[in-house]
Amino acid sequence: MNVDRLKNDRFLRALRREPVDRTPIWLMRQAGRYLPEYRETRRRAGSFLAMAQNPDIACEITLQPLARFDLDAAILFSDILTIPDAMGLGLYFVEGEGPKFRDPVRDAAAIAKLGVPDMERELRYVMDAVRTIRAELDGKVPLIGFSGSPWTLACYMVEGGGSKDFARIKAIALNDPQALHALLSVNTDAVIAYLSAQRAAGAQALQVFDTWGGVLSPAMYREFSLPYLTRIAAELERGAGVERTPLILFGKGNSAHLEALADCGTDAVGVDWLVELGEAARRTGGKVALQGNLDPAALYGSPEAIRREARRALDSYRDGNAGSREGHVFNLGHGMSPDMDPEHVAVLVDEVHRYSAR
Ligand code: CP3
Repeated sequence: MNVDRLKNDRFLRALRREPVDRTPIWLMRQAGRYLPEYRETRRRAGSFLAMAQNPDIACEITLQPLARFDLDAAILFSDILTIPDAMGLGLYFVEGEGPKFRDPVRDAAAIAKLGVPDMERELRYVMDAVRTIRAELDGKVPLIGFSGSPWTLACYMVEGGGSKDFARIKAIALNDPQALHALLSVNTDAVIAYLSAQRAAGAQALQVFDTWGGVLSPAMYREFSLPYLTRIAAELERGAGVERTPLILFGKGNSAHLEALADCGTDAVGVDWLVELGEAARRTGGKVALQGNLDPAALYGSPEAIRREARRALDSYRDGNAGSREGHVFNLGHGMSPDMDPEHVAVLVDEVHRYSAR
């Protein structure tokens, strides 16, 4: 139901480690402030939240990068912080400072009050956006739905916004680990319900962003992030065969844990640029597809430098994957930045498709 009529399915095929004609590419934060048309829509709508909460505008923005570039997937325009917002924490944005919560959760009592939001009520605007985008895409490329990881959501919920040292949440991890596990557990239930609802609404692949997993020591990662990612991979209904909705676990700083991630039941692992893609491929041994992992800063290079770096990442993957390009989804190791040149994105997409053509 979710994959019929797709004109370009190389992204889904690569996630299943099937042969493709070229390596597919999409870019994290491919819709955003580096695009003048995004800035124009944002001016009209007034704010980021006003855009994300309006399904027609969210659809318009999702499609903006696809109108410019030959990308192989669309990603829902939304945010990972919709879940804590729907739990009642009160999300708002301060210009230049990023996201904040009016009512962060800082102790066991506040955590005990949290519940899983109703996906077709409090988060209906997200599901409406997915439905609208699927209709507008009309099978051009698959649509990716997403969520934050339980740990990464907990970071924002406890710190009340971005953080440099994650002092508050790490103090809870040390002093009241049971309370933190209670928070991670309700977040996990919410993430599973959220991704399931996006899939039911039409999302054709699902990505979990564990953006802050890499700030944990290996022991703490194994206690506070990995088990919850594993539970998501185990419990999320994904279907079977070509109808299976693949799950990608992306983590910044996850390279110490690649073997564990490859064994946790996910279809694909997204890696940052601090690990050689070939090494990641060798260490995961074909158990999962890999997504990544060009340093986003490569886009500050000249067109020649961008092409060279793209070829290097493609070759690194092939060399670590027994000489085959199968099972690779090209992406950046993290998201695009507002000061990047859209022309450079066109160069990158062209080189990945040109050089990887079979
Ligand atoms: O990839 C995409 O194109 C889809 C859209 C998307 C956004 N946020 C849009 C957005 C996705 C997948 C996210 C996920 C997200 N949000 C993450 C995980 C991925 C990552 O980048 O690590 C995190 C940690 C957040 C939390 C968040 N939301 C932050 C830190 C910010 C501020 C960013 C900044 O540079 O000011 C946001 C706001 C946000 N989410 C913007 C966009 C395009 C910028 C909004 C604006 O000012 O116009």
